[in-house]
Amino acid sequence: MADPKKLFIKTYGCQMNVYDSERMAEAMGGAGYVTTETPDDADMILLNTCHIREKAAEKVYSELGRFKGLKAEKPDLKIGVAGCVAQAEGEEIMRRQPLVDLVVGPQAYHRLPEMEEKARGGAKALDTDFPEEDKFEKLKGRGKAKRAPAAFLTVQEGCDKFCAFCVVPYTRGAEVSRPAERVLNEARDLVERGVREITLLGQNVNAYHGDGPKGGTWSLADLIWELDKVDGLERIRFTTSHPNDMQDDLIAAHGECSKLMPYLHLPVQSGSDKILKRMNRSHTAESYLRLIERIRAARPDILISGDFIVGFPEETEEDFQDTMALIEEVKYGQAFSFKYSTRPGTPAAERPLVDDAEASDRLYRLQALITQQQQEIQQSMVGREVSVMFERKGRLEGQMVGKSEYLHAVHVANADVNVGDIRAVRIVESSANSLGGVLV
Ligand code: SAH
Ligand code: SF4
Ligand code: F3S
Repeated sequence: MADPKKLFIKTYGCQMNVYDSERMAEAMGGAGYVTTETPDDADMILLNTCHIREKAAEKVYSELGRFKGLKAEKPDLKIGVAGCVAQAEGEEIMRRQPLVDLVVGPQAYHRLPEMEEKARGGAKALDTDFPEEDKFEKLKGRGKAKRAPAAFLTVQEGCDKFCAFCVVPYTRGAEVSRPAERVLNEARDLVERGVREITLLGQNVNAYHGDGPKGGTWSLADLIWELDKVDGLERIRFTTSHPNDMQDDLIAAHGECSKLMPYLHLPVQSGSDKILKRMNRSHTAESYLRLIERIRAARPDILISGDFIVGFPEETEEDFQDTMALIEEVKYGQAFSFKYSTRPGTPAAERPLVDDAEASDRLYRLQALITQQQQEIQQSMVGREVSVMFERKGRLEGQMVGKSEYLHAVHVANADVNVGDIRAVRIVESSANSLGGVLV
């Protein structure tokens, strides 16, 4: 038998892309490919891209340029672009970078093996359809190989919210939920392969409304409660949620379902009602704060994480101060913050920009506040006992690293544990981005 061909995939963007990359690698496995860690010995290179901000999208072109030499040495090398830049700029990619053989959008990647064959034949292959068929159904079942203890599982894709700044509704298409039975089967498969923690993924995961196994529609909470019954699955997480889809049953699950981890990523973007309105977020700062109160009433120790955009068109210093006030009130354990980036084709793209230096200064101030809150929460963990699922060896001899229920990275020296073990750990120190502890 011929040696298997080698596939190198580089993944940008969100967790959904991480999941998609795994599925693409598996799909190509059926076409005789194994994955490789370096582009140098690859027969095919696939960039799974992100279009969310200008910088992310531009990175693709510079990255592609770097493969010129490789392609000259190895004319058989096939180069593909997948993901959200592929969806948004498919034909332009082909024009701007002639070394690209194949472009595949996030809803069409089940067709990747046929496209590879077409590219092998010397033709260019482009597929950025939003096909009627369910790509997950068309993809072959997942392999049985043992895998790492934490896994992602996409349950919902796309978005109908159309925030004025965001490309996701255009790159991922309309909101679609996978049927509950298929999600449950995939989860059970993952658990058989050694997975103990599953993070359910969706652009608006809490808008999940999949067909139930016996008719009716299931909410995300219904799905979580069913997963709660799966022996061997110890931890459930979900991301990313939209404030307007945070239903009562999901809030209640945070208080009642012991496998559901006390961590919630709930982006708000801004604390100014004027800006929220212009962003088309359809919630206010106040409604967000009241929602956080209800979630904390259900699960007092829950760690809240968020996303913020500063310098959205026409944001004033006063609007920014409203965002800082909201942050002061919520007290975030973690947050991602970005300077507004104009995305062609989105409603906000036409509006007057905030001065760039001013926007940078706001980002700096916001990040300083978030860092301070993050450090305070990490410090408050010192002396406490947390539960850690170990995921890998640390850099130091004998050290193991895992995640607490609050998603803090925790390292333990001389830990006599295996990857996948979940153990009680007493936190003894807090450093910039992680905690240190000892086994209890
Ligand atoms: N579906 C998720 C977010 C998806 S994008 C949600 O609704 O919360 C992830 C984050 O990128 C967003 O929360 C937002 O903070 C940021 N983002 C999206 N578009 C952006 C843009 N044009 N400029 C800057 N940041 C942006
Ligand atoms: Fe983008 Fe808004 Fe949809 Fe999130 S809810 S993916 S920010 S349009
Ligand atoms: Fe980026 Fe697409 Fe995810 S734009 S953030 S990879 S959905």
